[in-house]
Amino acid sequence: MKILIVNDYTEMSRKAANIVASQIILKNDSVIGLATGDTPKGMYKELVRLYNNGDIDFTEVKTFNLDEYYGLDKTNSQSYHYYMMENLFNHVNIKRENINIPNGMAESIEKECEEYERKIEEAGGIDLQVLGIGRNGHIGFNEPDLKFEAKTHLVRLDDDTIKANSRFFESIEEVPTLAISMGIKTIMHARKIILLASGEGKAEAIYKTVKGKITPEMPASVLQLHPDVTLIVDKKAASLL
Ligand code: GLP
Repeated sequence: MKILIVNDYTEMSRKAANIVASQIILKNDSVIGLATGDTPKGMYKELVRLYNNGDIDFTEVKTFNLDEYYGLDKTNSQSYHYYMMENLFNHVNIKRENINIPNGMAESIEKECEEYERKIEEAGGIDLQVLGIGRNGHIGFNEPDLKFEAKTHLVRLDDDTIKANSRFFESIEEVPTLAISMGIKTIMHARKIILLASGEGKAEAIYKTVKGKITPEMPASVLQLHPDVTLIVDKKAASLL
């Protein structure tokens, strides 16, 4: 595990965007795994800037998002689909058919999850996966559990996560309690992973990710077993290391 400790959120975002950009420059048809939440917003902003500068071209890039709330339509402003359009896809030249986000309104969740895995495989696997981390150590929506959930699956969100994510909603009652998420195996199959974290609130999760026991009760700890992970953390998130 490589750990880059940077000064602040801005530096974290720029470093992460540069890694994604160089992946795209070196392989123009890269398959990139993407995350949502507050953490990668600055990275997306920087990627849009690099695109506007003519430094990167998304024509051949394929993307797969980690997760989506169950029961939220694409047009719902709280959906991760909406978030991705707003923060990145509407501002770059990615082809719509190359964007993949789990469909939270799928009639058959089982079929949706299987197809998502199949599409990742057909694309040749994920070259670079971007991750954030929940305060409880979740990656994607893989919540602390008694076992590592392997593939894309339906998740019941933890009370902690519902509370943390309620800041994006009008009230806590509106936060979906279920989501579709890539599994740990899906994430671990990515050839390269970068995990971003900023702020004191993530310090304990980062400490356990790096130095803790590898256990499904701390989902991000599994990253210790991946051969090519880089953590980009600001000083506050790294304060317990
Ligand atoms: C959400 C997402 C994760 C994200 C995490 C942290 O629940 N499913 O992919 O990494 O929470 O979010 P934030 O970056 O807003 O702290």
